[in-house]
Amino acid sequence: MKKKLTIIANTPSINTRLLLDQTALGAKSIQSNLIDVQHYEASKADHNCVLNSSGIIIGTTENLGYMSGMIKDFFDRIYYECLEKTEGLPYAIYIRAGHDGTSTDMNIKKIITGLKWKQIQKPVILKGDWNQEFSQQCHTLGATMAAGIESNIY
Ligand SMILES: Cc1cc2nc3c(=O)[nH]c(=O)nc-3n(C[C@H](O)[C@H](O)[C@H](O)COP(=O)(O)O)c2cc1C
Repeated sequence: MKKKLTIIANTPSINTRLLLDQTALGAKSIQSNLIDVQHYEASKADHNCVLNSSGIIIGTTENLGYMSGMIKDFFDRIYYECLEKTEGLPYAIYIRAGHDGTSTDMNIKKIITGLKWKQIQKPVILKGDWNQEFSQQCHTLGATMAAGIESNIY
């Protein structure tokens, strides 16, 4: 059976839509027959997207010193459906921030600590003015996660 890699992000702008798409393209770029990559805009994702995943990448903007409302709403909707059913799920985060990103990282981690997911790498914080390299960083994040799932290293 194929392993599912799930990518969920809020996409309030052209730039942030690009980041979600590039993360998914990166995950697909390893051309694994073993992995099914699914990516969703946060408002369209529910617990079924998370259950039975072998890895998850969450992307969010930082808004008012916190994760986006869409991502918080996503966690509110999936939390109890996923609690105790997704322990150990490998995860990574990217954060698109105007100038900071650290409090979003801290607050997402509080939620994910409750879910007992397993962090596979430091968060990718894409801060400051838009930079073309942000797309590449997301592409690499997707490819790294997919390669790790394929080779069972998490
Ligand atoms: C209401 C609002 C609040 C924001 N608050 C923060 C913030 O607290 N910290 C930060 O680094 N960026 C903040 N930003 C900037 C967003 O993170 C940024 O606009 C978003 O990542 C989209 O970036 P883009 O211009 O590349 O599309 C805020 C943006 C909005 C619209």
